[in-house]
Amino acid sequence: MADSKTCLVTGAGRGIGRTVAVRLAAAGHRVALTARSGDELTATAAVCGSETLVLPADLTREGAVESVFARVEDAWGPVEILVANAGAASSAPLPKITDAEWQRMLDINLTAPFRCLRRAVPAMKQRGYGRIIVIGSIASKRGEPYIAAYTAAKHGVLGLVRAAAAELAGAGVTVNAVCPAYVDTPMTDASVSGIASRTGRSEEETREFLERKQPIGRLITVDEVADAVWFCVENAGVTGQGINVDGGAMQS
Ligand SMILES: NC(=O)c1ccc[n+]([C@@H]2O[C@H](COP(=O)([O-])OP(=O)(O)OC[C@H]3O[C@@H](n4cnc5c(N)ncnc54)[C@H](OP(=O)(O)O)[C@@H]3O)[C@@H](O)[C@H]2O)c1
Repeated sequence: MADSKTCLVTGAGRGIGRTVAVRLAAAGHRVALTARSGDELTATAAVCGSETLVLPADLTREGAVESVFARVEDAWGPVEILVANAGAASSAPLPKITDAEWQRMLDINLTAPFRCLRRAVPAMKQRGYGRIIVIGSIASKRGEPYIAAYTAAKHGVLGLVRAAAAELAGAGVTVNAVCPAYVDTPMTDASVSGIASRTGRSEEETREFLERKQPIGRLITVDEVADAVWFCVENAGVTGQGINVDGGAMQS
């Protein structure tokens, strides 16, 4: 492909990140894949069908973001499309959130995307082209019970996106967040198990409960999230947005 771009997708081992990576690869782009599990990344690379780089890393570790970007640059040059998707959720009533859990939520959902943006932006500005998409959440926009640390981190990352978009608007670099409600991924499977064990409901009842939280009556699909990411890649006129993919849960 003439206009093959260098992409980096964090959290590309499964769920949303894997589908986004496949979507970018299908458009002919080179896709670097990072997450902690090398096996899952290799499985993603196998379904990408284009040039990929498998870069296992814990993005919350000191120096990890720098090392991932350096390895992409060594192989292909600067990242042109960054999808900061890696994230994790946890649930507890506010008084039971430990300092360690609070910090874990901030580290992966807020600080890791910040470090990725900070590292990606100079080369994007220099080239006059860049696409940055952060996977936020409906929790970037409204509060829900029992996920205060996750919600605070996801609100924070939307603030980061908005500020970066304002700063880069004249530089050919767009910065957006895609904000899904419950998506059918391993993360939601884990939420179902956690809620079921705490409430005594069956997993089936719990999943139905989560499906009903979206007015469309079902979970969001990974393809629907990847469609929104692709829209942000394609559309140079959209920046600073938090695009809801939530089955009508939030109207904006
Ligand atoms: N599922 C939902 O309902 C939902 C809704 C709204 C927003 N989101 C957001 O969407 C994004 C993707 O979620 P998902 O549902 O696809 O989750 P998932 O299935 O659990 O996948 C998360 C990915 O992030 C990676 N990751 C987690 N911690 C990491 C770390 N410390 N360093 C590097 N990679 C790490 C995981 O790989 P390893 O564990 O191997 O590192 C995995 O590849 C997250 O930001 C999440 O908050 C999800």
